[in-house]
Amino acid sequence: MKLENVLLLGVCGSPRNQGTEFAVKYALDYATKKFGFETEFWTVRGKNLKFCIHCDYCIREKKGCIHNDSIKELYPALEQAQFLLFGTPVFQGTLSAQIKAVMDRCRALVAKNPNVFMNKVGMALAVGGDRNGGQEIAIRSILDFFQQNHVICVSGGAFGANLGATLWSRDEGRLGVETDEEGLKAIKMVIKRMGTLKNALI
Ligand SMILES: Cc1cc2nc3c(=O)[nH]c(=O)nc-3n(C[C@H](O)[C@H](O)[C@H](O)COP(=O)(O)O)c2cc1C
Repeated sequence: MKLENVLLLGVCGSPRNQGTEFAVKYALDYATKKFGFETEFWTVRGKNLKFCIHCDYCIREKKGCIHNDSIKELYPALEQAQFLLFGTPVFQGTLSAQIKAVMDRCRALVAKNPNVFMNKVGMALAVGGDRNGGQEIAIRSILDFFQQNHVICVSGGAFGANLGATLWSRDEGRLGVETDEEGLKAIKMVIKRMGTLKNALI
């Protein structure tokens, strides 16, 4: 694997350009500057993103998803990236419907190639309006998706980023996250772990 080919894909599950988008971009920027990752950013914001309708076209045909919408531009990046970062706002104590739709729609990729996510490295971040509003539950759901699809899950470890990066926007969107020093520190801790693994893989 060549250094310049190590791609970290950040997927943002917020319908707004506020705290979550800032946090995902902050993580990608840190990953580039500190660990030399090539990065790509994709957001659900403003996209035409349909739900999985369980038609099983993907299972029968093994040619991807029957829907022709914005996720078609995300699929190649998901296939190519060795490192994945999924970020979500906390809605109703868990992840956003938008990021869940992305995860469900990944069934089409897996149906085509059961090993599509095998041995990729994944992390999650979540932004809540409350300090303890469900960030860890949201992260856990993303990590479950990773685990189910053979993505190796990473966190920043104990003392700050146990399951991933949890951020508190105080319901002030981007401004809240920008000033959440502990949350930003947690992002750096997880990205550091990604960087260590990247160096071990090369
Ligand atoms: C429908 C909805 C449900 C929400 N539920 C929660 C919640 O359960 N816990 C929480 O901490 N914040 C909750 N919030 C607040 C958002 O998580 C918070 O404003 C966050 O910063 C939004 O992400 P953004 O800044 O990327 O837009 C909710 C917001 C919306 C719109």
